[in-house]
Amino acid sequence: MEPQFKKQPKGFATKAIHAGQNPLQWKSMSIVPQISLSTTFKQHGPGEHEGFEYSRSGNPTRNVLEKCLAALDGAKYGLTFSSGLGTSMTLFSMLSAGDHIVVGDDVYGGTARLIRQVISRLGIEYSFVDPTDLMAFEAAFKSNTKLVWIETPTNPLIKVADIEAISKISQKRQVIFAVDNTFLTSYFQRPLELGADLVCYSLTKYMNGHSDVVMGCIATNSEELYNKLKFLQNATGIVPSPFDCYQVNRGLKTLALRMEQHQKNGIAIAKFLEKHPFVEKVIHPALPSHPQHQLALKQTYGYSGVFSFYLKGGLENSKVFLQSIKVFTLAESLGGYESLAEIPLIMTHASVPEEERKKLGINESLIRLSVGLEDVDDLIEDLENALKKASAL
Ligand SMILES: Cc1ncc(COP(=O)(O)O)c(C=O)c1O
Repeated sequence: MEPQFKKQPKGFATKAIHAGQNPLQWKSMSIVPQISLSTTFKQHGPGEHEGFEYSRSGNPTRNVLEKCLAALDGAKYGLTFSSGLGTSMTLFSMLSAGDHIVVGDDVYGGTARLIRQVISRLGIEYSFVDPTDLMAFEAAFKSNTKLVWIETPTNPLIKVADIEAISKISQKRQVIFAVDNTFLTSYFQRPLELGADLVCYSLTKYMNGHSDVVMGCIATNSEELYNKLKFLQNATGIVPSPFDCYQVNRGLKTLALRMEQHQKNGIAIAKFLEKHPFVEKVIHPALPSHPQHQLALKQTYGYSGVFSFYLKGGLENSKVFLQSIKVFTLAESLGGYESLAEIPLIMTHASVPEEERKKLGINESLIRLSVGLEDVDDLIEDLENALKKASAL
């Protein structure tokens, strides 16, 4: 039986194609948004202009994309940045020395590195806590806590955190609550509907979907947070190029279609792996074996193509597996049309301290897959061959 996720309301694909795209905004009535490369804009008189002065503070192509992204999350406001980490850095720039962040313990290695090695030097304190343990999570709040940051599902262990419950804890203490929604996209999960204040993305992944742009964004319904972040977007200058904005806007047009196929291929592969004798454990929220399967069904509209599994055997077996795949590519990142496989221990999560990795279970047998849009039979055959070689050691 197929997993019964939350029912997707109508209109997502229509918004992805039309929100922010009104041809009336261009003199040419162009249907495809124009790439506005000009860094500066003519003013009618000093301070009198058509909404654009200088391209760092505002750009017509970026404007289209930000409106579309906001609409997809049911948000009033959207802001884009030159990478996912640039987005996080801008968000952390709202804080001051002496403030404290509560962070999910299993987040993208680069986010953890930014917190541990960069913003900590600026005097910002942090606690990493398991977001699926609500008691421990709440206990980590301090009088100086100003921000809660989680990823759900977590990366790379694919734990599912209860967004609504964490938003209640955060609201009670008037702490800003941000969710990194990169793994599921606004198609499969909309954290603002569940009480989050901010939703953040590495658009580099599924939202663009074609592995050819590095970018990030934030969406929110709070005018106050939007104004602060809009100020910081200009003040820090972490802005994307108009060409990249055009590309991501184009990628969004097929987001709903792509995500449905990623989901289908991902579930088929997870089921295949779960039955394979050389696989120890599969961690996929659509499988009944996942510890938060029921929560995933309740809180999300579906699941993407990224999930992890443990091989039987050690590092050598994992290496042979990763060197034997032919349709999957051994590479970092996720969310593109192409299937990727990686070992977080050595690749995406190498910067996480060793004792932390051990505690979490990021070990030499853990493999993360980003299942792409190839024919699923070819993907399964590829994994079967690589598992055969890995188990023959
Ligand atoms: C969940 C998540 N958030 C943020 C980032 C950082 O995004 P970027 O690589 O666009 O800076 C990544 C990158 O892998 C990610 O996986």
